[in-house]
Amino acid sequence: MRVASVFAQPFAAWRVWAPRRVCRRCLSQKTGRSVAQMLQWKPAEKVDGVVVNGYVRSVRAMKTHHFISLTDGSSLAPLQAVVPADHAEGLTVGTAVRLTGAWVASSGKAQSHEMQVEKVDVLGPSDPKTFPIQKKYMTPDYLRTIPHLRPRTTMNSILLRLRSDVIACLTQYFADRSFTQTHPPIITSSDCEGAGEVFTLMPASDAAAAESGDSATTRAAQEHFFRSRKYLTVSTQLHLEALAQSVGNVWTLSPVFRAEKSDTSRHLSEFYMLEAEMTFVDDLGPVMDLAEDMLRHLSISLYNSASVNDLLSRPKQLGQDLAPADDVRRRWEGFMLQNWPRITYTDAMKVLKDAADKFEHKPDWGTGLQSEHEKYLAEVIGGGSRPVFVTNYPRDIKAFYMRESQTQPNGPDAATPGATVDCFDLLVPEFCEIAGGSMREHRLDPLLQAMKRHGLEGPGAEVLNWYVDLRRWGCPPHGGFGVGFDRLLSYLSGVQSIRDIVSFPRWFGRCDC
Ligand code: 4AD
Ligand code: MG
Repeated sequence: MRVASVFAQPFAAWRVWAPRRVCRRCLSQKTGRSVAQMLQWKPAEKVDGVVVNGYVRSVRAMKTHHFISLTDGSSLAPLQAVVPADHAEGLTVGTAVRLTGAWVASSGKAQSHEMQVEKVDVLGPSDPKTFPIQKKYMTPDYLRTIPHLRPRTTMNSILLRLRSDVIACLTQYFADRSFTQTHPPIITSSDCEGAGEVFTLMPASDAAAAESGDSATTRAAQEHFFRSRKYLTVSTQLHLEALAQSVGNVWTLSPVFRAEKSDTSRHLSEFYMLEAEMTFVDDLGPVMDLAEDMLRHLSISLYNSASVNDLLSRPKQLGQDLAPADDVRRRWEGFMLQNWPRITYTDAMKVLKDAADKFEHKPDWGTGLQSEHEKYLAEVIGGGSRPVFVTNYPRDIKAFYMRESQTQPNGPDAATPGATVDCFDLLVPEFCEIAGGSMREHRLDPLLQAMKRHGLEGPGAEVLNWYVDLRRWGCPPHGGFGVGFDRLLSYLSGVQSIRDIVSFPRWFGRCDC
């Protein structure tokens, strides 16, 4: 059953999200306007006494006047300020300034209005000879070496605004559907996914003692701060399940940490995951419906927003490291399409096997899908536009908490059946998996059996006692998903490496500041 209509009601007339709309009251005031607000303000008459704050992006010095491009990160286009030459001292690239003057119609073609500056306050000087952010092209590799300054580039400010708008839109989405936003813990006792990719946590003093080699201090340090070993969470799912048994459907946008030594454009050691958990759902359909509906809502709501407009209309030289704007536009439009295909892993395997000679890794039932397989499926099954749900993966390659499939016990063929679980991965064209979800095993005995199969019994497994306990008292069928939030943003912005969608990226070997 598709329940998209359930999510769409009573919100059938989806509110178009309009973040950063210019507030008229702000415009009537004479101070505190952002550059974006100024650029939208087109009075017929000259307005005196206007104040604007920002950073000098570039300077064109003429004999009597200097033309300053002023930015504050709020828009792609800068504001043009015309400053008398004798007031222009200290107005160098990167300087933080407050300008006071008149807002007038401009005779130039590049802008409708400009500021005729009467007063300049240099609030934060900048030496242009040493300022590392240059107007000329800077490679992503170079910019990653200065993560503390990179956010000041035009492209990065667009990405920061896009991130903020996406969060605001999805927060509203869940609130409108009575999902409770929650804050599950970051410090956990167990490796939720069971993949062994957790970071361990200990006080710095204990780490130093352990490194000192002195056996007494080492022993003392082994007395864990929390009495036993703790980790940074890889997914908040298990705790979300507990919270869902209190207030019903829940969601969170939380930082998660994975100690994967993967040096790829899709992996970070610290990233944000958007996770939703639904209670009283009997099968995977409604869970996939929610993921699909949420992402469709996001694309419809934000497509005409200022940040997406800036992203898609940026000049060529700004976006040369991004996927072309037309491709990115197609991604947004692909999310808007209805009825994203759903295919079982077993059927997907058949499709892959028919094209086996195209792949470096030969597709084989019972093994995970490689990135090349995911890209092929997104292309062939989704037609290169719609995202694709691949469902019912083999039980033995998935996490212990997933419910065994009732309707999909089929393996590669009738002769060699293999158990599958009620789960899905969401694949997007040209990219990779951006979300994963499942029904959770809500019955006590099958959960205990699954844990046994995954080696989660006996000493060490008691850290999951609380999770097992949830099954003892009033545990309804439930399921949910996690969206790799930074992968989602990379996809929707066209940023080629996930390291460039995050302001301060951490990945294997790198955590710069
Ligand atoms: O598929 P994953 O591992 O699913 C879970 O963690 C579930 N417990 C979620 C749930 O059901 N509540 O991770 C979810 C998503 C992936 O689809 C991927 O997009 C992203 O998280 N992801 C990463 N993103 C960046 N860097 C990494 N190292 C990532 N690992 C996973
Ligand atoms: Mg996954």
